[in-house]
Formats: sequence, C-alpha cells, structure tokens
Amino acid sequence: MDNKEIKPFDSRVTSGNNNSFWIKTSPSLKYDKLTENCITEVVVVGGGIAGLTTAYCLLKAGKKVVLVEDGFLGSGESGRTTAHITCALDDRYYNLEKLFGRKKTTLIANSHMAAIQWVENTILRESIDCNYKRVNGYLFLSATDKRGSLEKEYESTKNVGLITKMLKYVPDMNAEDGEWSIEFPDQGQFHIMKYLKGLSEAIIKMGGKIYTETRAEEISSTGIKANGFSVHAKEIVVATNTPVNDWVTMHTKQWPYRTYVIGAKIPKGKLSYSLWWDTGDMDSKWISEPYHYVRVEPFDDSYDVLIAGGEDHKVGQADAEDIPEEERYLRLAKWTKKRFPEMSEIEYKWSGQVLEPIDSLAFIGKNPGSDNIYIITGDSGNGMTHATLGGMIITDLIIGRDNPWSELYDPSRITLKTTGDYLHEAGNMTAQYVDWITGSEIKEAENLKPCQGAVINSGMKKIAVYKDENNEIHACSGVCPHLGGVLKWNDDEKTFDCPVHGSRFTVGGTVINGPAVSDLKKIDIHHDSSVK
Ligand SMILES: Cc1cc2nc3c(=O)[nH]c(=O)nc-3n(C[C@H](O)[C@H](O)[C@H](O)COP(=O)(O)OP(=O)(O)OC[C@H]3O[C@@H](n4cnc5c(N)ncnc54)[C@H](O)[C@@H]3O)c2cc1C
Ligand code: FES
Repeated sequence: MDNKEIKPFDSRVTSGNNNSFWIKTSPSLKYDKLTENCITEVVVVGGGIAGLTTAYCLLKAGKKVVLVEDGFLGSGESGRTTAHITCALDDRYYNLEKLFGRKKTTLIANSHMAAIQWVENTILRESIDCNYKRVNGYLFLSATDKRGSLEKEYESTKNVGLITKMLKYVPDMNAEDGEWSIEFPDQGQFHIMKYLKGLSEAIIKMGGKIYTETRAEEISSTGIKANGFSVHAKEIVVATNTPVNDWVTMHTKQWPYRTYVIGAKIPKGKLSYSLWWDTGDMDSKWISEPYHYVRVEPFDDSYDVLIAGGEDHKVGQADAEDIPEEERYLRLAKWTKKRFPEMSEIEYKWSGQVLEPIDSLAFIGKNPGSDNIYIITGDSGNGMTHATLGGMIITDLIIGRDNPWSELYDPSRITLKTTGDYLHEAGNMTAQYVDWITGSEIKEAENLKPCQGAVINSGMKKIAVYKDENNEIHACSGVCPHLGGVLKWNDDEKTFDCPVHGSRFTVGGTVINGPAVSDLKKIDIHHDSSVK
C-alpha cells in the first residue's frame, strides 16, 4: 500500500470518495500487516463478506486458514452494499425457470433461503450485534413494466416452492406505479460492517489469521505472494469480488455495473423494517435493467435511516445515457421522495459496483482450469446470499463434502441461453477500446478544476490527469493495465474507472478494483502539460 497516495480518499477504508452509511457509522476493521512468510492449509484473498464467510466456514470445518485483505475489512463493495438479505433474486424466477428449468430453479431458491438461515444461525451462534432482523420484502411494478410481469413472477415463485403472497397494495409505500406487490416473507437485513466485525472476531477466536493492508500480488497453485512475503497453501480462495487471478476467462462472463445509493433520516416507527424493490426500468438501454431497492436501518432512539438505491449504468459509461453521476442521485432522491414522502434531507450518498453474470447466477467453485484455486464472483445485486453460499460451497468442495448447489454455481458451467443479450454486452466491451484512437474529454490538464480529473491525449498516449486541491497536476497512464481499456474519470467517486471489465484506480493510480492487479504507471508532467 502506497502511503504517499494522493488523497481525496483513503482506499484502505473504502473504494470511493463517498463514504457509505455503514462505513460512517463503524470503526475501520484493521489487523496487522503480513510481515513474514507463513504456511497454512487454505489462504483466502479478500476481506469482504465472501472472504470472511469462507474463512469462517473453513475454520469451523477444522481447516487452518490465513486471510489477506489489501485495505481494511469491508473496504471493497461489501462496505458499500445496502445489505438486503433476500431470496427475491433480481433477475426474476420466471427468467431462471426459462434458463435452468423448474427443478434447478427450485434448488436455486432453496440455496438462497438456506443462505439467509445460515446468516441468522451464525449471528445467533456468535452473538453478533449487527441489527439483524427478519423482514418482509415487497416486489412491485416499475412504471415502465406491465402487471403481467408481476403475475408471471408470482406464479414462478410458487412453482419453485417459495411461500410468497400477491398483495393488492404495497405496504408502507405510495404505490404510484400500480397497487399490486409480491410479498416475500422471512427475508433479512443487518448492518454489514457490524456483521463483518462479528465474523472476523469469530475467525480469530477459532485460530484463523487475518492480515489487512496486505495485497496479494501473485496468486498461484502453491499460494500467494503479498507485501513481499509468501503464504504457502494447499488451497487458495480468491474472494476479491472480481477475480484477480484470471486474466480473461471469467471477465467475458460477467459485466460490471455502477449503482447509486442515498440515505435519509425518517422518524422512528414511520415505516416498517422491510425491503422494497421495483421490477426494473424496461426502457433502459442496459441489458441488466436497473431497478430501485429500498430498506430501513435503525439509527438511534428517535430516527431510522431510509436507504434507497438504483440508477445503475455500466461502469465508466454514465455519459452513454447523458446522465452524469450527480444527476443520478437527484433522480434517485426524486423517485424515493415520491414513494416515501416521510424522508428528510439526504445525509448519505455513495455508489458501488456490482458484477452481473451472464446467466444470473454467481460463479462459485474451482477457477476454470485449476485444481486448487477457487473463486467467488458474479454475485449481482444478490451478493449477501451469493457470497454466503460461496463460503458454504467452497468449504464443502475443499473438505470433500457433498453440496447440493456446487454444480449450479460452478464457474465452468456452460449455459446455452442467457438472460440478456451476450453479443450486445460483448460488443459493448469491445466498443470501449475505440477511445484509444478517437478524441478525449479535455485537451489540456490546466483546464481542469481543483479536485477534478480527466483522461487526455498526449500524442498517441492516453494520460489520466488529476488536479489536486492545491492546483498541482498528477498524471498516470490512462490505459488500464488489465487489457488496455481507456480509463474514464468518475467525478463522483474521484476515481479512474475502466469501462471494459470494471477495474478502478485512485487519482494516484493505485488499483482499487480488479481485474487489474497492478497500479497505473506514474508519468512526469511539465508545467506546460507536455508529458515526459
Ligand atoms: C451499492 C450496492 C448495493 C448492493 N446491495 C445489495 C443488497 O442489498 N443485497 C445483496 O445481496 N447484495 C447487494 N450488493 C452486492 C453485494 O454488496 C456484493 O456482491 C458483496 O458485498 C460482494 O462481496 P465480496 O466479498 O465478494 O466483495 P468485496 O466486499 O469487494 O470484497 C473483496 C475484497 O477483496 C480485496 N482485494 C481485492 N484485491 C485484493 C488483493 N489482490 N489482495 C488482497 N485483497 C484484495 C478488496 O479490498 C475487497 O475488500 C450491493 C452492491 C452495491 C455496490
Ligand atoms: S478492466 Fe479489463 S481492460 Fe480494463
């Protein structure tokens, strides 16, 4: 970790300039850095919900485990989630039935219900104080969708054995877009950072080792190299949200999307603790139709916080719809206020990244082509349950125990049909390379305002430049070290984002999201902005 990192934000704490409600209301989860070589049975890379759950499950099964995290725990997407713990999958059961058939879709539904139960059992067993609650969830129609979609989904949830109800109203919400909703009982919610703290303490209690500020620089079948030291292991679990051990294969099977969240206080008791989701924007240009998601988190004796999300776009492509990041928060606020008029001023806002898999299911299991490297990725908007399943399934694979879901989530599965249009998404990825030879957003770095960045042309080079609060200009390569995508400036989170597979970098060039594993090359810049 480069301590001379140019601010605006500390990427050890979180992966963007906006702090989430969870990060703001809990202390950083720090452990020692790795400072010596070590040997273990399993090394887990990544200290989000997937890595910590896996480490916990493996220790429970009697394995020796070392976990390394390059920031602090929860500094990735887990700390930026909204933490609905649900079996109401965002790609819809009627789509899953088409893709996988009824029998497998029933298994999928069961797996997510089992994940919710696993979370609850663990919270009770370890006495984790994380505001966990069982709550109802309500799926209602988006203004752009038709009543028939809701009916189809209801029928499908029944087909796969879920105990849902069709209601002729949407509880606690101004149902602008239609009265009906599907109730999903027995869902869950918690304060994610408090949950991760509980998991990490349980891991340490069982003899597991956690190292933070420890980035795995090399991952191989014999273990990892991190901070210049080696961790030798028989099994390696890569729980880095997007795999950093695989250069291409997995990144053609999932697409990165950026999603936005706001939080506002409401008087305590005004709204029930529930989850709400609309069915998504059917007019969207994106294959993964953005949808709104809302819930309520306890704040203090007088207030709760209403947390609403949505307005997604493909990473680095906010401008493809002509809706800048800042406007997405305004649209989200307007949408939320209309349906939940009790909300007050917005106090929290942040965005985060989700990986949408080609066929709706996460990829959990052996990395394609490997015998002892495992991955957990592609968990879409259902990462709380997918990551939990990740820990359960990978533990069973490692200890050789049968698991009813391992085949379903196998990263090597071949799904002939997909929910979206694979060629469209793949074409969108390829189109992002065109910027290499066409014009850039701003000609001269001097034109930037303080705390603003851009990717500019310098001859045939692309340079990521940033003007700090003292008007000093910093420059790095504007080309993604993964597979050469041209980076885009994200003015909201103050990062450079790759529109191809979603790698992200701080203004100083430090990698904060894979698949890239290396930082951007620093570039000297003259006062006249010409590049050495
Ligand atoms: C705004 C938003 C809202 C969401 N809402 C929900 C929701 O309501 N319900 C739901 O189920 N899901 C939701 N999701 C999805 C869910 O939050 C994620 O899928 C989940 O948190 C991912 O967990 P993870 O452990 O896989 O990844 P992360 O939390 O990103 O953890 C990966 C960790 O790996 C570390 N790392 C990366 N590279 C290295 C390396 N080389 N060496 C060491 N460490 C490394 C990172 O620092 C990071 O901490 C949401 C996501 C977002 C962004
Ligand atoms: S993330 Fe693959 S090219 Fe940038």
